[in-house]
Amino acid sequence: MPEQMHNPERQDGAARHVPVLLTEAVEHLSPRPGGVYVDATFGAGGYARAILETPETRLFAIDRDPNAIAAGEALAAEFPGRLTLLHGRFSEMEALLAEHGIERVDGVVMDLGVSSMQLDTAGRGFSFMQEGPLDMRMEGEGLSAAEVLNTFREEDIAEILKTYGEERRARPIARAIVRRRKERPFKTTFDLVEVAETVLGRPRPGKKHPATRTFQGLRIFVNRELEEVAKGLMAGERLLKPGGRLVVVSFHSLEDRIVKRFFAARTGRGQAASRRLPHEPEPPAPSFIDIAPGGVAPSEREVARNPRARSARLRAGERTDAPPIGEAPPSPTVSIGERKAGGRRVATRGRAPRKGGRRR
Ligand SMILES: C[S@@+](CC[C@H](N)C(=O)[O-])C[C@H]1O[C@@H](n2cnc3c(N)ncnc32)[C@H](O)[C@@H]1O
Repeated sequence: MPEQMHNPERQDGAARHVPVLLTEAVEHLSPRPGGVYVDATFGAGGYARAILETPETRLFAIDRDPNAIAAGEALAAEFPGRLTLLHGRFSEMEALLAEHGIERVDGVVMDLGVSSMQLDTAGRGFSFMQEGPLDMRMEGEGLSAAEVLNTFREEDIAEILKTYGEERRARPIARAIVRRRKERPFKTTFDLVEVAETVLGRPRPGKKHPATRTFQGLRIFVNRELEEVAKGLMAGERLLKPGGRLVVVSFHSLEDRIVKRFFAARTGRGQAASRRLPHEPEPPAPSFIDIAPGGVAPSEREVARNPRARSARLRAGERTDAPPIGEAPPSPTVSIGERKAGGRRVATRGRAPRKGGRRR
């Protein structure tokens, strides 16, 4: 996945986020004058600005990164009374909107993952291209990536890299991580790059950087990104009015699979009556109509201009008047620190054992 490429468009050394699939996202959202919309991933406000260009729209923009929200004040001033910035997670969008008396909306857009500002700011620790503290927390709260590597059990680290990074060599990397932390704890992004390179070899021109999947896995774990996607989609389903639209842009196969399965289950795909056994209950009425069958990929032109767009996929649905289906789309999860002990599941809080303990 090319998420960690240097953004060619930088201004005065500062990273600037180039919105991906912007035209297609706004076309599918189809904002109408006077409508109420949610941009669930405000970032640098590229999507938000485009939505606000439709006259009299009211936009609630959410981001879990306090820096993104603070930087959005300038855009809010350009559109007085029309843009409300909300700091929080999109899994909590209903509660965030309820604080402003909003219960139903005309459209929700989600542009998943991290922004170029997050990736290109060395101090955030998201990028293997720049040395910085190994942090990766979008909100700056909770366990940092370094804390995970320095304290989790080897098998848990391997599980994170395998499940969320789809890293085939997760086990040897986890082993090398545990070996290395005994000598010196992890502090910076380059500490981790070094370990990934020891196991996978040096970067080769034209090939994905060897640390790509390790960084992706840790970032997804630290920010609980897949759980957020599943919960965010369901919140969107509950919030939308009939005829309202949900537009989602994802950047890697794990996210896209969740979005695809979410819409498949809600648009009646694979529910042909002829395939049901006589005693099987009627499936619920579709809560969405698929308005982007097969998904939308960026054009070659967009990818040439912005390589970060390469793996992006847009999926979108229009809400019907059927009740929300509610069931969570299947999404891979890692249960850290749970192990069998005498046949019972025991939560161990994912920390390394005390000295002399058997777990590593
Ligand atoms: C790809 S950027 C969005 C860019 C934006 N569409 C634009 O045009 O500038 C993704 C943003 O979503 C935010 N984000 C990621 N997961 C989130 C979540 N669960 N809740 C709220 N914001 C989230 C990130 O902090 C980041 O700023």
